[in-house]
Amino acid sequence: MIRPIVKYPAPELEEICIPVSDFNSDLKELAGDMLETMYSAPGIGLAAPQLGVNVRLIVVDVTAGQEDGYQLVLVNPEVAEHSGRQKEEEGCLSIPGITAAVERPDWVRVKAQDLEGNEFEIEGNELLARVLCHEIDHLEGILYLDKLSPLRRDLLKRKIKKLIRAGEW
Ligand code: NI
Repeated sequence: MIRPIVKYPAPELEEICIPVSDFNSDLKELAGDMLETMYSAPGIGLAAPQLGVNVRLIVVDVTAGQEDGYQLVLVNPEVAEHSGRQKEEEGCLSIPGITAAVERPDWVRVKAQDLEGNEFEIEGNELLARVLCHEIDHLEGILYLDKLSPLRRDLLKRKIKKLIRAGEW
């Protein structure tokens, strides 16, 4: 089921999410809804708090569903190791229509669990590293806006306020 995406500046996006301990059917249903919602947007990543659910679950597909074999569901993900740097334009489904250049590691190794609770690791570079870091940040209540210089952040926040006032958000 496609669910509405929570938009900035909703307080749900600023909360630290709770680790998943029950690998039950509700979790599988939530993951399914997150994938469906991400693909319909379309987007390449989505975190549970963006659907207003305060748990440590993210979904990622760097092809936005255009190719098979790229779909990732990560429960309780953690960046175990990272290296390098990249700075590219980045967006967020909770901050629609706006992008900014954000610095991220160029390579990450992420530890996570699958929907059955089995532990696994994945490595990613470039876009995959960026998306993984972006989505894992969501679980800490961190948005990419928080990674920008104060000047750039204030500029974008003012732009968003204007859009909200105009009823275009
Ligand atoms: Ni996001």
